[in-house]
Amino acid sequence: MFGSLKALPADPILGLLAKYREDENPQKIDLGVGVYKNEAGHTAILDCVKAAEKYRNDHEDTKVYIGPTGSPVFNDEMSKLIFGHHKVLIENRARTVSTPGGTGALRVAAEFIKSCKAGATIWVSDPTWANHTGLFEAAGLTVKTYPYYDHENKSLDFDGMLAALKEVSSDDAVLLHACCHNPSGMDLSNEQWQQVVEVTKDVGFLPVVDMAYQGFGVGLDEDAYGLRLMAENVKEMIVCSSCSKNFGLYRERIGGCTIIGESPAAVDVAMSVLLYVIRVIYSMPPAHGAALVETILTSDELRAQWHAELKVMRDRINGNRQLLVDKLIENGVTRDFSFITRQMGMFSFLGITPAQVQQLQDEYSIYMVGSSRMSIAGIANQNVDYLAQSIAKVL
Ligand code: LMR
Repeated sequence: MFGSLKALPADPILGLLAKYREDENPQKIDLGVGVYKNEAGHTAILDCVKAAEKYRNDHEDTKVYIGPTGSPVFNDEMSKLIFGHHKVLIENRARTVSTPGGTGALRVAAEFIKSCKAGATIWVSDPTWANHTGLFEAAGLTVKTYPYYDHENKSLDFDGMLAALKEVSSDDAVLLHACCHNPSGMDLSNEQWQQVVEVTKDVGFLPVVDMAYQGFGVGLDEDAYGLRLMAENVKEMIVCSSCSKNFGLYRERIGGCTIIGESPAAVDVAMSVLLYVIRVIYSMPPAHGAALVETILTSDELRAQWHAELKVMRDRINGNRQLLVDKLIENGVTRDFSFITRQMGMFSFLGITPAQVQQLQDEYSIYMVGSSRMSIAGIANQNVDYLAQSIAKVL
């Protein structure tokens, strides 16, 4: 049976991590996978997470099955974090389940959409996170793209996006990034979100919002502006969220999938289908990450500590954007890279060719995705001179 298999190439993002780990150059820089790193290049466990782990260690008294929805307390706290004080919660029209990471949330959302309509089409931004397309196709959806990032002008092709969304069929789904667009860092302004919401209402497609970086853009509430506005204005919607980045819980695999329905009764029916989808894929989600998040979010002290630690991460990333642009100028680069400071979150495209990306990797041990997507969190005061000089050389 296995003899017919052909080897697949390594994942464009995760494959880089393996190469970086093998590289023995002491000056190597990892701008590949989207994980936060501190000034020393380390992805440390947050102090609030350490405290929650200690609490869990002392208080956990069973390892019995948790059930397909995961922890009800986590689900409730996540709903509040995502929506704030929102009418969909007051009207009891939202249901959240814990999932194995944001990827797990997206996969069950895709399977759920397939249950609503076999072979449904989902529209994703061009470009989008490298795993979106494979993940949706693996679930049997048809994937199409709408214009999003204008590589030439390093800006949002908003007119192209709106025009394409107006042509989407009412029984299609459209994936939108809540904030910190992966891979471009190019976010919609609040006014642009208002227009996207209007088109969504007019056309009637299903909005699916991926929020993997809440708190990494401007702030926890600000980053959820578009998603909350959308939820106020549509009858049905799906939100896929992740605690990988903002709680630093990457390997614990914890996220959430939220379904909003037209009425409490309708969302209960949807939920029964979602629970079946979960049961036949992985039965039930892991519990550890959810327990940490709920401990943090239900404790005033730990929640305040988390807000402070999240701000440190956000400020460092935003600071790195200006730092890199300044250092490129200092190293004689005349090309305008100021667009990097106008983008948000973990990523930006540097805008160099695949050959230049490869040269940075082969000759300077600088790792970024072939599209020239950089994880800005990998920049630090101690490596930015080398980075800017190396970019100047390949340019
Ligand atoms: C990324 O885009 O680098 C992250 O979301 C990690 C991943 O799984 O790809």
